[in-house]
Parts: sequence; C-alpha cells; structure tokens
Amino acid sequence: MNGSAISIRDLSKVYRSKGGSVKALDSVSLEIPAGTVFGLLGPNGAGKTTLIKVLTGISPMTGGEATVAGFDVRTDSLKVRARIGWVAAEVILDDDFSARENLWLQAKLQDLEDWEPRADVLLKYFDLDRRADDKVSGFSTGMRKKLEIALALLHQPAVIFMDEPTIGLDVNTRRMLWEIVTGVHKEFGVTVLLTTHYIEEAEALCDRVAIIDHGHIIAQGTPAELKARVKADIVRLDTDEALDVPRISAIPGVQEVRSEGNEWAIRTASAATLLPALLATIRTDSVRRITVEGPSLETVFLDLTGRRIGQEEPMRDVRKFYANMRRQVGG
Ligand SMILES: Nc1ncnc2c1ncn2[C@@H]1O[C@H](COP(=O)(O)OP(=O)(O)OP(=O)(O)O)[C@@H](O)[C@H]1O
Ligand SMILES: [Mg+2]
Repeated sequence: MNGSAISIRDLSKVYRSKGGSVKALDSVSLEIPAGTVFGLLGPNGAGKTTLIKVLTGISPMTGGEATVAGFDVRTDSLKVRARIGWVAAEVILDDDFSARENLWLQAKLQDLEDWEPRADVLLKYFDLDRRADDKVSGFSTGMRKKLEIALALLHQPAVIFMDEPTIGLDVNTRRMLWEIVTGVHKEFGVTVLLTTHYIEEAEALCDRVAIIDHGHIIAQGTPAELKARVKADIVRLDTDEALDVPRISAIPGVQEVRSEGNEWAIRTASAATLLPALLATIRTDSVRRITVEGPSLETVFLDLTGRRIGQEEPMRDVRKFYANMRRQVGG
C-alpha cells in the first residue's frame, strides 16, 4: 500500500455520562504513512486509547472522519476490521490452550480459512515453533507477548494497533519487544500505530511521533525533527555536595536547575558556553561525574506544556521536593 495507512481529519470524541461529558479527542488530524511505525506519545488520560478505540471501530466517533487501510471507519467498519490487528494492553491469551490452539481459536473468531500455513510461519518467525503444543500457562512474559502479536498478524492485517505494548515489562523484555516490532513491520509489511508514555520507547522505535495532550495533537514529526525544535542541552552533574542553586541559576544561559535523584540536571541554551562558568562556580573536587545530553522528547513535551510526561501528580512532586530540601538542610 502506498500513501497513508491511516488518515484522520478533525476527529473528536466526547464521552457523555450522567456526571457530565469528557472531550477525550479534540479535532485530531493525522496522516500515518503506510509502512511506518508511528507512535502516539502522551501522559495518562491524554486520549491515546480512545483514538485506538475509535479507529478500530470499538467506540463511535463524535465528529470528523477517519480512514484506515483505505476504508472509512464509520461506513466500512467491517472492511476496516478485516484489515487491522490489535495488541491490547490486557492479556487475551487462553492459558489452558497451547500456542497453536490459541491461533486456532483466533482463526475461528475471525472466520479465517487456510490459516494453518500462516500460523506455522508466525510460530517459526517468533521462535515459538518448538513450544507450539505447550500450554501457554507455562510461557514467559516475552513468549506471551510474541504469541499475542502472532495472533494479531494471523489474518495478514495491513495495520496493527498496539496500546502501551510494553507497559509493566522489565527492561530486557521491553527491548526484545522493540526489536520484534521493528522486525515485524519490515518482515510482514505492516504499519504499526502504537501508544506509549515512555519517551525512550517513542525515540527508539518510531519513525514518526505525534505528541498528544488533553485530546490535542500538540506536535508531530520524526523524533529528530521534534527534538530540533528545542534549543537546549541538559548538563547532568553527580556531586557529593548540594549545589548553590541561586548562584548557578544566575549563570547566563541557564534555564533551569533541578535535582533528579542523586544528580542535578541543569538546562541551558548551550552546554559548551555553560561548562567553563559552571566549573568556576562549583567545588570541582566534589564532582563525581558530568554528562551532557541534547534535548529529548521529554524536553519537547515540557516546552509545549510546561509539564513532564511522567509528572501527573504534582502534589507528590512537591512532597518529594520538600523531602529533598530537608535532607539537604539536615545533612
Ligand atoms: N468509557 C469512558 N467513559 C468516560 N470517559 C472516558 C472513557 N474512556 C476514557 N475516558 C476519559 O477520556 C480521557 C482519555 O482517556 P484515554 O483512556 O483515551 O487516555 P490514555 O491516553 O489512553 O491514558 P492512559 O495512558 O492512562 O492509558 C480521560 O479523561 C478518560 O477519563
Ligand atoms: Mg490508555
């Protein structure tokens, strides 16, 4: 398929209940090119799952229009469903069945014929062929994830949706899954739309990213394009002593000084300009490590919203801030 795998115009979604209404999506427009891994990055409650539910036809849209794999989501929902796969955050496998039986069940649910050769290809591709007849209850988290993706690919969809595919996974399994997503999209030619609130995941995995917040798309582009919008470096400093924050904040070009765990993060227009002045200000014998980072998608989000993606509970952060202060004053 050439062109757009998903095309969305002015899409809105309002959830109405007795208690009132929530505008979960507000005039969202996106073009998702075929053959890409596209990431929807945003904090809790941003509208990521809602967008997937609307595009997969699970939940009706309130306004606007959308096509998926060339078909209108509202008027051709059966054709859309035949061409998409969905890897949900929830577990969908049947534990009492083997891997092959789970594929069989999926084929039954989707009314597929001649699915067995495809199932064999998928089992082999995901390195599950030797365990194909073992019960899924004995599978590791990584194996289960692979099988879930195999189920989503069984009917040869053009597009697969993955809602927070790596949430709750350990670092190794997460990285394995990143490789699988990249591999699957190349090997089977599918377009992947995934949601995440992990910055590193969006950066590592996605060809293009849209940042969503309160139902609005606030920026989109390749990770490199998005980062190029921010003119800032972060200098990270690991020191034995607390920094004199007002003094460092007064150095020209310094935008923010923040304590992060055992480190200090100093945001500046240019690290090259800051470093000499910084080293003249602090006691260098207390410095254990200095690292310099360019902007990340986190910085992009922060610039656009004034918040951090992970920072959904400001009260807790305030408490942490005072706890740090007390520790520094006391120690
Ligand atoms: N069925 C529903 N009825 C009413 N409001 C809903 C419903 N589903 C979601 N919402 C609201 O819509 C908004 C967007 O929710 P959504 O689940 O799409 O966010 P999300 O980006 O997927 O968040 P998370 O990262 O927590 O999964 C939230 O304010 C949420 O409370
Ligand atoms: Mg969600």
